Amino acid sequence: MRSIAVANQKGGVGKTTTSVNLAVALARAGRRVCLLDLDPQAHATLHVGVPQGGTGASAYDVIAGGRPLGEALVEVSETLSVVPSHIDLSAVEMALAGRAGRESILRERVAADPRFGGQPHDGPRFEYLIVDCPPSLGLLSLNAMSAVQEVLLPLQPHFLALHGLSKLLETLELVAERVNPRLRLLGIVLCMYEAGTRLATEIGRDVEAFFTASRESHPAWGSGRLFNTRIRRNIRLAEAPSFGQSIFDYAASSHGAEDYAALAAEVDQAAADSRLTARLVA
Ligand SMILES: Nc1ncnc2c1ncn2[C@@H]1O[C@H](COP(=O)(O)OP(=O)(O)O)[C@@H](O)[C@H]1O
Ligand SMILES: [Mg+2]
Repeated sequence: MRSIAVANQKGGVGKTTTSVNLAVALARAGRRVCLLDLDPQAHATLHVGVPQGGTGASAYDVIAGGRPLGEALVEVSETLSVVPSHIDLSAVEMALAGRAGRESILRERVAADPRFGGQPHDGPRFEYLIVDCPPSLGLLSLNAMSAVQEVLLPLQPHFLALHGLSKLLETLELVAERVNPRLRLLGIVLCMYEAGTRLATEIGRDVEAFFTASRESHPAWGSGRLFNTRIRRNIRLAEAPSFGQSIFDYAASSHGAEDYAALAAEVDQAAADSRLTARLVA
C-alpha cells in the first residue's frame, strides 16, 4: 500500500481539494483508496458527501479514543472509503497532553489493521491511504507524517509560496529521523495555477532550484519532484464541495477534472518510477 499525507501548514493552498480529488481519481481508476480526514474542519469529509459528526466513529475516536481504524471506515463507493473527521479533533492536543508516543498513534492504528497491509489478510486491501492534514504542524500533522511513507505538498504560486516550505521540510526530516525512516517527500504540486503569469513560471523555477540545492544534504527530500501537472484555477473546483461531490461527479469535463485526473496518473506512475530507481540503485 502507498500512503500519502497531503500537507502544508498554510491554509487555503489546495490540500483538501487535492486530497479529495486525487483520492476519487485513483478510486475511479480502480485503485482501492482510503481517504483519512485529519482536519477538524472536516472539509474533506463533507466534500465526499459524508455528514460530519454522524453516529459512527471518527478520526478523533481512532486517535484519542483508542478505537480501531476499521470502526471509523465509511464506504463511499466500491473502491473509496473515508475515515471522517470530527470537530473534536481540534482538542486532540489537549486530550493527549503528556501521553507518551502520542505522535505515533495513527501509525499504530494503521499497522494494526490488515486492510492497510502489515499482517496476513484474506480480503481486499487498500492500495492507497491519503491523509488530508490540517493547516498546522501540530500533533495531527505529526501523526500523519509518522503514519505514511510519502508527503505531497500543494503550493499556491504566490510571492511568499516558498516561505514556510523549509519549516515543513525540516519537520518531515525530523519525523524521518526519529519515528519513520521510510518517510519521503513525494513532490510539490502547484495549485490554483494561472498559466501565463510570470509569477507562476518563476515559482516553478524556484522550486526546481530549491530541490537541486538541497538534494544531497537532505535525503528525505531528495526524492521530491515538481509535478508536471499544474492544477489550474477553476471555479468548478471551488463549487463542488458544497454539493458534496468530487470534481468528477460535479463537472466531469472541467479543467479541474482534467488536471486532477492527470495528477492522479502522475502520482500512480511515481511509484513505478521509484521502484525502478530502487532496482537501478540496488
Ligand atoms: N484550483 C482551484 N481553483 C479554484 N479554487 C480552488 C482551487 N483549489 C482549491 N480551491 C478553493 O480554494 C479554497 C482553499 O482550498 P482548500 O483545498 O480547502 O485548501 P486547504 O485545504 O489547503 O486549506 C477552497 O475554497 C477551494 O474550493
Ligand atoms: Mg483543508
